[in-house]
Amino acid sequence: MAEEAVLSYLENNDEIRDSGEFASERGIDHNEMVNIIKSLHGFRYVDAEDIKRETWVLTDEGNTYTTLGSPEAQLIFAIPPEGISREELQKKLGPSVFKIGCAQAAKNKWVEIGKQLISKKVQHVEDIVKDLLLQIQQGQGIGPDDIKALKARKLIVPQTWKGYSVKKGPNYAPKRKKVVTDLTRDNFQSGEWREIEFKEYNYSAKGQPLEGGSLHPLLKVRCQIKQIFHCMGFEEMPTNNYVESSFWNFDSLFQPQQHPARDSHDTFFLEAPSTTKKLPEDYVQRVKQVHEFGGYESRGYTYDWKREEANKNLLRTHTTAVSSRMLYQLAQKPFVPKKYFSIDRVFRNEAVDRTHLAEFHQIEGLVCDRGLTLCDLIGVLHDFFSRLGMTKLKFKPAYNPYTEPSMEIFSYHEGFKKWVEVGNSGMFRPEMLRPMGLPEDVQVIAWGLSLERPTMIMYGIDNIRDLFGHKVDLGLIKKNSICRLGIE
Ligand code: PHE
Repeated sequence: MAEEAVLSYLENNDEIRDSGEFASERGIDHNEMVNIIKSLHGFRYVDAEDIKRETWVLTDEGNTYTTLGSPEAQLIFAIPPEGISREELQKKLGPSVFKIGCAQAAKNKWVEIGKQLISKKVQHVEDIVKDLLLQIQQGQGIGPDDIKALKARKLIVPQTWKGYSVKKGPNYAPKRKKVVTDLTRDNFQSGEWREIEFKEYNYSAKGQPLEGGSLHPLLKVRCQIKQIFHCMGFEEMPTNNYVESSFWNFDSLFQPQQHPARDSHDTFFLEAPSTTKKLPEDYVQRVKQVHEFGGYESRGYTYDWKREEANKNLLRTHTTAVSSRMLYQLAQKPFVPKKYFSIDRVFRNEAVDRTHLAEFHQIEGLVCDRGLTLCDLIGVLHDFFSRLGMTKLKFKPAYNPYTEPSMEIFSYHEGFKKWVEVGNSGMFRPEMLRPMGLPEDVQVIAWGLSLERPTMIMYGIDNIRDLFGHKVDLGLIKKNSICRLGIE
């Protein structure tokens, strides 16, 4: 109806000067009119120009006075000819009407307010305030002084009215043509295609957002760290076994069987299958020998090494188990120097808190060559960590059963303004390497760190449970930024 009104009016007239007046003359809701004008304007049937007007509308209080009368008029009507006590009048009118009514009526000199009695000074009053409010309600204008007074009493507030003036547009037609978006077989068969008008393409419309898969921040950082290792000439080790035997996870690493880490408080042991089936027997004998009696200038641990303990299956507690397997394999062939890395999941029976989970990822690198020294380790650590953006490093002596010397790695964090521990490292002991069969002059330098730690720092996440596990916000996975580490 509104559309028809606009289009047919414009057929014989140049302009709709004011959409508000136009709508009210025809009993059309102005909001509906505005929507129709916007739509016709979009298809360029009409040209529309904004018009704005400041109008006044009644507040809730103003509205009530249009029916009940202003408080001062209510007050006058409530006072009997002989006057009335304050208390009684207040009871009749209620506290707010009484208070405002008294003030206004006194100002108008309508009443005498004595100590005991309130009495009328006039017999008849005209409720001008109510009349003014009614005029505003009906959309009539009132004088500026009256506006000021009503506004001061908070009975009216300004409101900006928005409407349009409307003229014919370039596509004007007295009736809107239906535009078609798709050309169909029926259109061809019926010959309609000759007449139908097609909707124009909107080349600047945005497409549907793509719902593709998104990589988890850990995967993004892992990918970058892999690239760093590849740039440094390291090969990736096969890490596709979460289940490992105690032998490869601990014994081959010269970790004694009574070591606290081998307790079920720290390590998840498997119930089924609870033991490993196959181990390289002659190597197992050499490992037993070195634990019990030493060798290679070592005294060993001098205890009774038990095969059952070595057979126990567990969820690997570190990726060094993988390194151990790789080095053993390397030792079975004529020696060639190697640089290996791995990044994969490990498991520890830990109490879960802000920074610890029972499973996390380790990054591990190792270099195996003749004549390596601690200086080579320090050098390769500087190279590796500077590619991660950590250029200031410090080392602190540490202890691992399988490395000697061992060093914790600290990096100065410019944001936190302090040294933070970023990894652990060392030179694998002869007690580990010689039983494997590696030549005597071959040394292995190695280091390990968690993948979660740098990822949390990089993505500003301070609770590991926000990064990994069932509480992770999927929105974070979809929206997290790409990761770029300085690859050189
Ligand atoms: N395996 C050690 C850990 O779990 C890391 C490490 C790897 C230390 C290699 C020294 C050499 O923390």
